[in-house]
Amino acid sequence: MDELEAKKDRVRQHLERANNLPTLPVVIARVIGMVDSPQTSSRQLGDEIAKDQVLTAKVLKLVNSGFYGFSRPISTITHAVTMLGFDAVKGLVLSCSALEDMEEALPGLWEHSLACARTCGFIAEQLGLDEVEELSVSGLLHDLGKVVLFQGFAEEFHQVRALVETRDLLFFQAEEQVFGAHHGLAGGWLLEKWTLPGKLVAPVSDHHDFRPQRSHAECTAVVHLADVLCRAEALGRGGDRKIPQLQPAAVKLLDLGMEEIRKIMERMDAELDDIPRM
Ligand SMILES: [Fe+2]
Ligand SMILES: [Fe+2]
Repeated sequence: MDELEAKKDRVRQHLERANNLPTLPVVIARVIGMVDSPQTSSRQLGDEIAKDQVLTAKVLKLVNSGFYGFSRPISTITHAVTMLGFDAVKGLVLSCSALEDMEEALPGLWEHSLACARTCGFIAEQLGLDEVEELSVSGLLHDLGKVVLFQGFAEEFHQVRALVETRDLLFFQAEEQVFGAHHGLAGGWLLEKWTLPGKLVAPVSDHHDFRPQRSHAECTAVVHLADVLCRAEALGRGGDRKIPQLQPAAVKLLDLGMEEIRKIMERMDAELDDIPRM
């Protein structure tokens, strides 16, 4: 095994054991255990989450923080499950601690993620896709891998930041040099371990490496486009100063012309004015 492969393996193994992390709250560990059991129903899991008031409050705060523009506030976990779908809520619960550490990992990443989530919603609506809510959640979680790498490998994460500065690389390119894998893969491994469906996992794993032949390519294309547009509009920050290249195959798959992309960007300008340009 070459050196980079060995490093990549190390990250994957770390994530395999991630439910043993000392910082993981007991309730989340219990939720993960329930998720792993095929006997668990959506209802039981929803009830388990609802038992923990702190976790419930965190999830509801997240759901109501504007990542998806609900017209009325969502007040219970059951209501959140109805509006977002069970898997999306599960993804939010399990990602809670990582989402809270975003600001510490990379200043501006939370704003970037929020902008990306809402832009995914705009694109899905423009295209008339059914998965508006799931796509918003994938958008919110697309850079989760950066936080996961920060939490598990602080020293190497620091090296990535230094490389980005000195070599003017995109963040994911520097990660590939240091970790042998980028944050898309790392985030995807974690979501996969949590048994989230491919529809939510693929856009996270592949948002920097779009291939039209892969499964859930349409969802991945939406998240990829949203990510690039948010970077182009400087909404929040992703950890580097460059704008990732928009992959023509993704635009082609979504069958979007310049006029439609312009409309999406106009909507971003109009509706994302609460998110700081950085
Ligand atoms: Fe990314
Ligand atoms: Fe991003």
